[in-house]
Amino acid sequence: MTEHEETMPAPQVRVVTDMAEAAGYVVAALQDALAAGEVATLVLSGGMTPQPLYARLAEAADLGWEHVHVFWGDERLVPPDDPGSNYAAAREALLDRVPLPEANIHRIKGELDEVAAVADYAEQLRRFAQRHDAGCPSPWPRFDVVLLGLGADGHTASLFPGSPAECVVPVMAVTADYAGRPARRVTLTPIVFNHARRVAFLVSGADKAAAVVAALGPARDPERYPAQRIQPEGELVWFVDKAAAPERAED
Ligand code: 6PG
Repeated sequence: MTEHEETMPAPQVRVVTDMAEAAGYVVAALQDALAAGEVATLVLSGGMTPQPLYARLAEAADLGWEHVHVFWGDERLVPPDDPGSNYAAAREALLDRVPLPEANIHRIKGELDEVAAVADYAEQLRRFAQRHDAGCPSPWPRFDVVLLGLGADGHTASLFPGSPAECVVPVMAVTADYAGRPARRVTLTPIVFNHARRVAFLVSGADKAAAVVAALGPARDPERYPAQRIQPEGELVWFVDKAAAPERAED
């Protein structure tokens, strides 16, 4: 265990009936950020699990969405109107339902090829950090809230089992087959996720239970369990439903 891991607080595991219950946590975190600064940053996850949360967030009409900036933790390399696009899913469930300016949407451009999409997103992160995160030493923002899912195989964002656990770049291209979803992807890497103030995993379904136990278990193997690569300087919370919850999790 590294020195950093030894000093890490144990992640909080909150058992919820519905992922929408995580909305209160996200809204409070964004409100904290807006109380402390001019903007708040939210990194959205792909997949199906966050959909009820996005729908509940869309009800927070007076959050101050005009000062919120949204990014993605990963994206499939498909056009923005493709059914497999994480941007398209978030657009439908949340972004089209809140008064968030178009300029505050920082999407990974899935219509580009890998090299161009990676370079474009890395540049978006650099510019945003330069403009809004002056004290930030890295060419990417210190995100206020990062949302992450978990695959039944243990992947998170597009960090898949067996991929190198150590990354020195903020954004990278990945090719991985999972659940018949688009295989060519672009993902943020742990050096960006771990710089965040808050990271929340959202996990539902019995098919994820083994991956949750492995990720939170005592066996440290970040290459095999990519969720173990996520050790933020800030707060780490797991929102799991009863079907995905490890035995010891308290309600
Ligand atoms: C993606 C996601 C991915 C997702 C998991 C869980 O682009 O597919 O970022 O990491 O969160 O695969 O997906 P579900 O929530 O649909 O189970």
